[in-house]
Amino acid sequence: MSKKINISIVGTGLMGLQHIKAIKKSKKANLHSIVDISNNAKNLSKKYKIPLYSNVSELLNSKKLDAVIVATPNQLHEKHTVSFLKNKIPVLLEKPISDNIQSAKKIISSANKNKTPLLIGYHRRHNSIVSKVKDIINKDKLGNIVSANVLCWLYKHKAYYNEKWRVRKGGGAFRN
Ligand SMILES: NC(=O)c1ccc[n+]([C@@H]2O[C@H](COP(=O)([O-])OP(=O)(O)OC[C@H]3O[C@@H](n4cnc5c(N)ncnc54)[C@H](O)[C@@H]3O)[C@@H](O)[C@H]2O)c1
Repeated sequence: MSKKINISIVGTGLMGLQHIKAIKKSKKANLHSIVDISNNAKNLSKKYKIPLYSNVSELLNSKKLDAVIVATPNQLHEKHTVSFLKNKIPVLLEKPISDNIQSAKKIISSANKNKTPLLIGYHRRHNSIVSKVKDIINKDKLGNIVSANVLCWLYKHKAYYNEKWRVRKGGGAFRN
């Protein structure tokens, strides 16, 4: 079997935890380490017996890192992602790409300049319902589509908004 890809998770909150679970289930990936500043990250580091770094520079000094998943608050996406791209480490960056357009452009231009893969985490594109709809459209089963209106609402519990970055400028959709 080919070598497993060593992936570090930067930001181990709600979304970072999902990525950790997925990596632990994967036969192709290995959980290299985590980067976070929270107390909970210490427990994760013990639980999975992996190094915990408190910042991106420490991770960049570590060995055998193949790729990273950045799942920090939106306002930190540019800073974190560009550090990895400059070091030619491929990044899966959680959506949205950033909290403003200028910053998003800087991230994309860094990926291009450094010829390093960057993927934004639009996981719903791989949702089985969405794939099925795409398949139906591709097979021309719906005829000539002239417009589409798709709406998806997800309930967020009150506690979700205790995390301050989510309700600050750039934290999320207008509705948040
Ligand atoms: N794809 C999706 O469906 C989906 C769903 C939820 C969230 N997200 C995205 O994922 C990202 C994270 O969201 P979340 O809900 O997991 O947030 P969260 O607040 O639960 O987790 C963020 C984590 O980042 C850590 N962190 C903060 N500053 C840091 C720093 N300087 N260095 C390292 N770690 C730091 C925090 O301690 C926390 O553990 C956001 O961009 C969000 O939009 C995507």
